[in-house]
Formats: sequence, C-alpha cells, structure tokens
Amino acid sequence: PPIADVVDINDLQIAAKNTLAAADYAYYRTAALDEVTYQANLFIWEKIRLNGYSFVDVSNSNLKTSILGYEFNAPFFIAPAAQAGRASSGAETNLVQAAGAAGILYVPSISSTQSIATIGAAAVSRQVMFHQEYIWSDQTRLQTELQEMEAAGFKAIFLTVDNTGVNGIRDRQMRFSAGGDAGHSATFTIDALNQLRNMTTLPIVPKGVKTARDVKLCADLGFPAVYISNHGGRVVDMAPTAVEVLLDVHRLYPEVFDQIEIYADGGVRRATHVLTLLALGARAVGLGRPFMFSNVYGEAGVTKAIDILTLELTTTMALMGQADVDEFRGNTSFINTHQVE
Ligand code: FNR
Repeated sequence: PPIADVVDINDLQIAAKNTLAAADYAYYRTAALDEVTYQANLFIWEKIRLNGYSFVDVSNSNLKTSILGYEFNAPFFIAPAAQAGRASSGAETNLVQAAGAAGILYVPSISSTQSIATIGAAAVSRQVMFHQEYIWSDQTRLQTELQEMEAAGFKAIFLTVDNTGVNGIRDRQMRFSAGGDAGHSATFTIDALNQLRNMTTLPIVPKGVKTARDVKLCADLGFPAVYISNHGGRVVDMAPTAVEVLLDVHRLYPEVFDQIEIYADGGVRRATHVLTLLALGARAVGLGRPFMFSNVYGEAGVTKAIDILTLELTTTMALMGQADVDEFRGNTSFINTHQVE
C-alpha cells in the first residue's frame, strides 16, 4: 500500500506483512511459546480507562521532555530491535535520521545490521542516542563494544538483563531458522552488574526488568534509570505487562518514582498507550516492532510513524485536559481504576 494510505501504527504492520519475505516478517513478529505475553501487551489497554478533565486551558501543547537529562521532542522512543536491514537496505540509518529530524530518542540494538560506528556516524548534528548492549559471556567483546559506543558518541547504555543465558523459544522464527543468537552470560549477578559500571563512563540503564522487586533493586543500586520490559513477549512467556509491573511498583515501592527514572515498553501502538504508561509514572515509552515495520517505507515510513504518534498524543492530551507532558506524567488521576492507590 502507498505510504499515503497509512493512517495508524497498525497499518504499518499490515504493510510489513504484505511486503517482507515471510521469514523476515516472522523474525520481527515472533514471540515466545504461546505468545500469551505478546498478546497481553496488545490487550492490557482494554482494561484501562483514561479520565479526561474539562474546564482546562489546553492551548499550550508541550510534548518536549527530558530522558536521562537530555531534551527530546516527545516522550516516546525507538526501542532497540535487531536487524533493521531485514526491512530496508537503509537499515538502522533510516531510523537514526528520522529520529534525529524529529528530535526523538533512538536506541540501536547491539544486534543491528549496521555497525556501532556507522550508526553513530549517521546522526544529525547534536542528535543524542543511547545504545543497547547485552551481557556477553565474552568480557573482551563487551569491553570492546562499550568502547566503540563511547567513541561513536552514544550517551548511555541500555543493558538488557532479561535474557541471561539464552533467548526465548520463538516458534514462528524456528519455522524458518534455528533461532536467535546464543552466548549471553548465564552467570550474570548483582556483583557482575556493579562491575560493569566500571567498564564504561556512560550511564547504564538495566533493560528488561519484569518485577517491582527488581525495579526497587535497581533504584537501591543507584542506577539513574530502569527500563521495564518483557522484550515484546519474546523472552519469558506469561511475563507481566509493563502496566502490571508499574501497578505493582505503586503498591509495593511507591518511593521508587522519586528515586529513579522509569522507562517502559511492550505493545504500545497508540498515544493512549503511551499516556497510560506515563500516567502510571513512566518517564518515557518505547516502541519496538512498529518502528521496524515502518522501515519498509524507509526513512519516510519511520517519520510517518513518529508523526502519527505525535498527532495522536497532542490530540488525546488536549481532549484529556492536560497539554503538558511533564505535568501529565505520574498523575494517576488520569487512570480510572481503583488499583492505583
Ligand atoms: C527486540 N527487542 C530487543 N531488545 C533488546 O534489548 N535488544 C535487542 O536486540 C532486541 N531485538 C529485538 C528484535 C525485534 C525484532 C523485536 C520485535 C524486539 C525488544 C525491544 O527492545 C522492545 O522491548 C520490544 O520490541 C517492545 O515491544 P513491542 O513494541 O515490539 O510490542
């Protein structure tokens, strides 16, 4: 379908399904085991109702916000997802340039098609990017990559901590190939996490935290931020959604919201989903598959995805009676539920 016909984020998935080779679509789309978590990510929103307030002046719309101290034009970002080259020959460069032009955060995956240096060099002037890393059992590899990220200008590391030892078992992908890359460290502990902080001067943000307990742990260990994610349902099936984890944090460790920035992702396809996570206290919200799918249209597709989300955000926030994202964030009065107390 021509890009002009793309109206929402779901249209991008349909376009990708219709355009990509079956194996490539399956690689992006796949999730672990019965895909219970994958589906829960997409449907948790149905359990939420958003309150909107009248009698408010919403003429000053502001989506700008800081993430880890850097200013961005929107509170959503492009989450790390491997192998952008399966969607476009422009691969990660398309994502860098669309994000840079729009002033949003992109966090390339360490399993990208292009190299750390190439992705870093594609940045537009003053564009801030963070980089994702895995905990390889090969310490030399880890050290080398962290140095490459620093040299290429990345400002922080999202350290993925949710697939120690192995990847999830992903049926859709296994029907085409033997599965993902192995080699992650299975012996990763709190000590190892602390040691890692000595390997780089960049701030480290643990990504893939799936319980309130571990959110609290990261806060107590002094990390500047923590990233709640079930990896788009690709790791442990039946893991909770970010909404459920955030509700647990509210219930068990509400002080954490003042200690540490929290990012979240999983199944975000609409601005209403972004706003749900923001109201529950997330500082910024990632999208994985949607941006990978948008890349079948190249940079223009990625820009289109950003524009769609931006329009939905300004519209929905105005209709809800809070046009400033920094005032919206953490305001649980926007969530109509008795669970958030
Ligand atoms: C991912 N994700 C991921 N995460 C990570 O830390 N390192 C990685 O290399 C990848 N690779 C990857 C590939 C593909 C194809 C997908 C779909 C996802 C997980 C990603 O960062 C994010 O957590 C999820 O994609 C969020 O869920 P949605 O938005 O895809 O529903």
